[in-house]
Amino acid sequence: MEPGIVVVGAGQAGFQVAASLREGGYRGPLAMVGDEPALPYQRPPLSKAYLAGKTDAEGLALRPATFFADHDIARHAASPAAAIDRDQRRLHLAGGASLPYAHLVLATGARNRPLPVPGADLAGVHQLRGLADADGLKAALAEGPRIVVVGAGFIGLEFAAVAAGRGLAVTVVEAADRPMARAVSADTAAFFRGAQEAMGVRFAFAAGVTEILGREGRVRAVALADGRELDADLVVIGIGVVPNAELAAAAGLPAADGVRVDAFLATPDPAISALGDCARFPSPYAHGLPGDGTVRIESVQNAIDQGRCLAARLTGKPAAYTALPWFWSDQGPHKLQIAGLSAPGDMAVIRGEGSAFSVFRFRDGHLRAVESVNRAGDHMIARRLITAGIPLTPDQAADPGLDLKTLALGR
Ligand code: FAD
Ligand code: APR
Repeated sequence: MEPGIVVVGAGQAGFQVAASLREGGYRGPLAMVGDEPALPYQRPPLSKAYLAGKTDAEGLALRPATFFADHDIARHAASPAAAIDRDQRRLHLAGGASLPYAHLVLATGARNRPLPVPGADLAGVHQLRGLADADGLKAALAEGPRIVVVGAGFIGLEFAAVAAGRGLAVTVVEAADRPMARAVSADTAAFFRGAQEAMGVRFAFAAGVTEILGREGRVRAVALADGRELDADLVVIGIGVVPNAELAAAAGLPAADGVRVDAFLATPDPAISALGDCARFPSPYAHGLPGDGTVRIESVQNAIDQGRCLAARLTGKPAAYTALPWFWSDQGPHKLQIAGLSAPGDMAVIRGEGSAFSVFRFRDGHLRAVESVNRAGDHMIARRLITAGIPLTPDQAADPGLDLKTLALGR
């Protein structure tokens, strides 16, 4: 078989790079190797519309099966990649077959971080990453369980909102003193805490889980470090993710907290690139963030924009990846949108009030990120302000009389 481009990981980023390669005129052999059985699909609805029964699995697929046949993309589904032979330029699959490559793209995503306590393997303890997890959770919800969620991040809170919306008793246990502490300001966190409580969700903050207690192999309660026991028929763990970087590391590529790539998404091996949740890259938006100037971003935007960027390079139009990071989360009736990257110490300036406001985050005197709660207009303006580097002072941001749209459009 003639070596072409082989993409490992048939998720959001893997799909995008393959689709954009064909769109960009690449006519050589193109294969996608994925460990899941389904067609490439969107994950965000798994903790939102799909979990709530408002869309089905077909509605999640990024393209129908005919797309892959029509674009001559060979799909190797339910087929985990096991090893990379960089000398021979071959990808070995767990089933024993191997594929030659001229260029290898690593789009292996991330997996849920396990909770390292006794009882985490009991029946009734779930995580949410893929379609199979969501199907398991949907079935479990139908039994009307008492629920404990571990982790008040995006997954935990989105799941809690759906479950509470069905009238189920939900308690969220969080190690930090507020929800979504990794990604949002104290102001945004406080709003969502109140919004979740209004939906009926209860919280235990600054809480450590010491054990998941069982009876006859099934979960019955969650034990906390302060001695409390929270009764539970269902436990959902959402305590963050770890990048699937082992394949790269085993092949001798740098892969500490993500496959290390340069601004062009290239690894030190010119025949191997990486993108999406699994990749750690230098970002112009990391200015002033803790660390070495590299980031690993878990978002649909990042997967799609990096897919396009990498496909452009592989079809002869190289450009550094500089897209502005943005993200969204839906919790009950509330929509959170985030533009840019913030750090815990960033100054926060609020525009708007009640359940529709935005938090403008400043670092080193510059606007670095904006969290918009039920203010979609602000989000679009923020993306433009930050991308174009339009100067904005905290005083201006706080001035309700200043028309930010006019400023953003340079009128
Ligand atoms: P993935 O989509 O995870 O795809 C990676 C694929 O590679 C997976 O199928 C994985 O199984 C496969 N794989 C791994 N190792 C191998 C191997 N060795 N061989 C073959 N295949 C392998 N983002 C947002 O912006 N907004 C949201 O609201 C939002 N909600 C989310 C809700 C949920 C429940 C989840 C799980 C994620 C959500 N995200 C959201 C994040 C977003 O879905 C991810 O950032 C995005 O899917 C990343 O794309 P990716 O291709 O890098 O990884
Ligand atoms: N006990 C309780 N809480 C914990 C523990 C623990 N042992 N360990 C971590 N946490 C908390 C963190 O403090 C954080 O608030 O779990 C939360 C995890 O939040 P996220 O990092 O947002 O991770 P998660 O909700 O799992 O979402 C993973 O999915 O929505 C997508 O791409 C998005 O990055 C996100 C990913």
